[in-house]
Amino acid sequence: MSEKLDSVLETLKQDQEASQERLFEIIRIPSISTDPAYDGACNQAAEWCANTLTEIGFEASVRPTTGKPMVVGHYRSSNGSSGPNVLFYGHYDVQPADPLDEWDTPPFEPQLKDHPDYGSVITGRGASDDKGQFMTFLEACRAWHSASGELPVSVTVLIEGEEESGSPSIAPFFEANREELTKDFALVCDTGQWDADTPAITTMLRGLCSSEVVITGPSRDLHSGMYGGAAHNPIRVLARLLGDLHDDDGAVQIPGFYDDVHQLSTEQREQWNALAFDTERFLGQVGLETLAGETGHGTLEQVWSRPTAEINGIIGGYTGPGTKTVIPSKASAKLTFRIVPDQDPDKVVAGFKEFVMSRLPDDCTAEFLGERGSAAVGFDVSGPAFQAAAAALEDEWGKQPVFMGCGGSIPIVESFKSQLCMDSLLVGFALDDNQVHSPNEKYNLTSYQKGARSWARILEKLGSM
Ligand code: BES
Ligand code: MN
Ligand code: MN
Repeated sequence: MSEKLDSVLETLKQDQEASQERLFEIIRIPSISTDPAYDGACNQAAEWCANTLTEIGFEASVRPTTGKPMVVGHYRSSNGSSGPNVLFYGHYDVQPADPLDEWDTPPFEPQLKDHPDYGSVITGRGASDDKGQFMTFLEACRAWHSASGELPVSVTVLIEGEEESGSPSIAPFFEANREELTKDFALVCDTGQWDADTPAITTMLRGLCSSEVVITGPSRDLHSGMYGGAAHNPIRVLARLLGDLHDDDGAVQIPGFYDDVHQLSTEQREQWNALAFDTERFLGQVGLETLAGETGHGTLEQVWSRPTAEINGIIGGYTGPGTKTVIPSKASAKLTFRIVPDQDPDKVVAGFKEFVMSRLPDDCTAEFLGERGSAAVGFDVSGPAFQAAAAALEDEWGKQPVFMGCGGSIPIVESFKSQLCMDSLLVGFALDDNQVHSPNEKYNLTSYQKGARSWARILEKLGSM
């Protein structure tokens, strides 16, 4: 190990308590991007990020958009001309904390708690997704800056505040700041590890698109005694439509849905099989026993490389106490589709609309709201940056990283590729049971500390590329 890295790692160790307090500070800001009531908090979180970057040697600013502000910071290293120039990405926004009464302690009052398996865990909304994660990188930069006077490579940091709302401002922001943001590749800390002892590099992300369908039947809510039997009930129409979405083998029935979907290659299947994924444990953690997806596809394949049609919410009719004999005028459902490489989000949403329209009975109408989409992405990991990161992760964890897929989506990663022609190196330290987006979200203290050490090592390796 180089002397410099040695002192950087020592600095991280000496600074652990203050580092934890910095993470607590940003978790305390309730930067929920999907709810306008928290716009002020989003601005405050952006300011906090820009101030933090300035404190550790970046030239940083908060950049307004038509939505939530972006934070951009630049650090020019004297090594900048020889090593790669990288863009680091994270997001300061978080998901809503609901349902609030299921939290053991308040979501925006972070705490350190004992955990039977993990020692200490940091709790709070965003502890893992993505505040704890992007802070691992900033803490690594802070330690390099203070221990060695500079970073081993030139780094631009972009921290976004709309990831959890589908990143609507990204396209115009990239368009307007193309040169400033285009680097050799992106580093992204918003994914997970294989398990608590095994690091990972994520090589693919599913895409996501959504649609909300509103079915209208009668022009107003009706007395079901007067019209029941004679009038269409839009809830029944909707339920039938949604029921038809999948066949008995779990396959999506929208015509053309699988047209652009590739079969898993033998090589990929073998690599994933060799990981010996424990399906029983995976399902057991959430109270399930039986795999429910498409028959004939393994668990990892189902979540990493098969597309889905998911019903996320249904709204309609009377849901208050007691009974109300009503035939509602409207019923609606919110759907999202996880999509895989080469599927076109617009085509998937169009296919869903057609599927609905072709099944709509006379006298019923359908309206579609709020669709948007981002495509899936995958990376060839044989390049030098991936290999440098793999070596650094092995140094820290004593184990080679697993190259894994990811069922989740990070829309900006696709935009890095399609708009800025940048690949992304996805390294994160979250664990499956961090309860991201759920009550009692947490991040292991060791994930936070070893995450920062991992980035410190990755930066060094990138500097000698
Ligand atoms: N960090 C997650 C993506 C993720 C999910 C990574 C699961 C690893 C495992 C990200 O913040 C997220 O939640 N993305 C949303 C995107 C959506 C709101 C546009 C998702 O995947 O649902
Ligand atoms: Mn995230
Ligand atoms: Mn998220």
